[in-house]
Amino acid sequence: MLKLKISQSQYKARRTRLLQQLPSDSVVVLPAATHLHRNADAEYPFRQNSDFYYLTGFNEPDGLLLLLPGRPEGEYILICQPRDPAMEVWTGYRAGPEGCCEVYGADQAFVLGEADEKLPELLDGRRSLYYPMGQSTAFDQRVQAWLATLRKRVRQGCEPPEALLQIDSLLHEMRLIKDDEEVAVMSAAADISAAAHVKAMQQCRPGMMEYMLEACIMHHCAMQGARFQAYSPIVGGGENGCILHYIENSAPLCDGDLVLIDAGCELDCYASDITRTFPVNGRFNEQQRALYELVLDTQLQCIEAIRPGVPWNDIHDLSVRVITAGLIRLGLLSGDLDELIASEAYRPFYMHRSGHWLGMDVHDVGSYKQQGEWRPLEPGMVLTVEPGIYVAPDNEAVEPHWRGIGIRIEDDVLVTPEGHTVLTAAAPKSVEAIERLMREAQ
Ligand code: GLY
Ligand code: MN
Ligand code: MN
Repeated sequence: MLKLKISQSQYKARRTRLLQQLPSDSVVVLPAATHLHRNADAEYPFRQNSDFYYLTGFNEPDGLLLLLPGRPEGEYILICQPRDPAMEVWTGYRAGPEGCCEVYGADQAFVLGEADEKLPELLDGRRSLYYPMGQSTAFDQRVQAWLATLRKRVRQGCEPPEALLQIDSLLHEMRLIKDDEEVAVMSAAADISAAAHVKAMQQCRPGMMEYMLEACIMHHCAMQGARFQAYSPIVGGGENGCILHYIENSAPLCDGDLVLIDAGCELDCYASDITRTFPVNGRFNEQQRALYELVLDTQLQCIEAIRPGVPWNDIHDLSVRVITAGLIRLGLLSGDLDELIASEAYRPFYMHRSGHWLGMDVHDVGSYKQQGEWRPLEPGMVLTVEPGIYVAPDNEAVEPHWRGIGIRIEDDVLVTPEGHTVLTAAAPKSVEAIERLMREAQ
């Protein structure tokens, strides 16, 4: 079983790095996630807030993290659920304030019941307050209530913060550049997901249902210790592959169709994100193969272009150029390449971006532009490269044999000082490799 986790020393190093960037008279407050109700007495599985987890590794709901640079009694405070043996029988072990200090390295810890008393005291005298503004109305209102309490106490000498600041840019800039431990966890998640895609290719047969391949993927990941997927798996057979976020996964897989699987597990709150498209019966037909080779050629060229210094959008622009040229060559578009790119004639076939940042969130945080310019890639960034071609079943502008084919190929790519590493390379993607794998599994 895989037990790969970010170490507590790494969490500490992150807090130190953030504290060093904060003004000395500031305070940061971050909320943990809360349990989400599903129906009746059932809840969704708990998933910690990514920002909160990034700085703590603490996986309990409803707490608060405070960072107070230079505070003599301690700079790192956790507010947590109280120990409660009667409740813990039902919902499991809680660290409590003692555990927060001993295990999670907090300088001080308080229980949630004390939060509304402690917070105004802790904010008092701090000039600027950083928090995730506008993420949750409930949290925004709690912050306002703490500030209102402080304002009522100004005649007693209290000094409420004067500046309310968004924490996102500081924290998300840190999250965008992955450290070695993050790369190790993301590589492990990528390996598990790649092997899951191999299993799905091996088990696929005409007549199976889309949800059976979903189950195959989820089973493999869970058996490796990755119980949760980073997002709802997409398994689209035939024309369902043209629906970008198809998660119904309820149709039969038909002989002669392709199936598109976009699925990736999460490990210690880090995502993987892989798409593979392959023939249900193990053999591409002529049109499927032609479009597939075009998407693959696009994806390989885009990956090849990844290295430090290349502006983010160059990768997308390259994908547009290669796809548009290929669609002209195959007769799905006609006209001058530059004019077709300028008029976005490719958009009925390729309507999404070439990728996104990847990290704790599948569409991860971090800006794509800086001062109005697409930012250059830097070592430690992880991005997906996922071009696709989707020919709508009702696209009457193309010959009928192209219609209803949906193809996307997606890998997770780490930017390195020398260029890049494909974290998800273990999932085969050449026509030959896929056909061989599926033939040998018959
Ligand atoms: N799986 C979501 C995406 O590829 O962006
Ligand atoms: Mn993606
Ligand atoms: Mn994806």
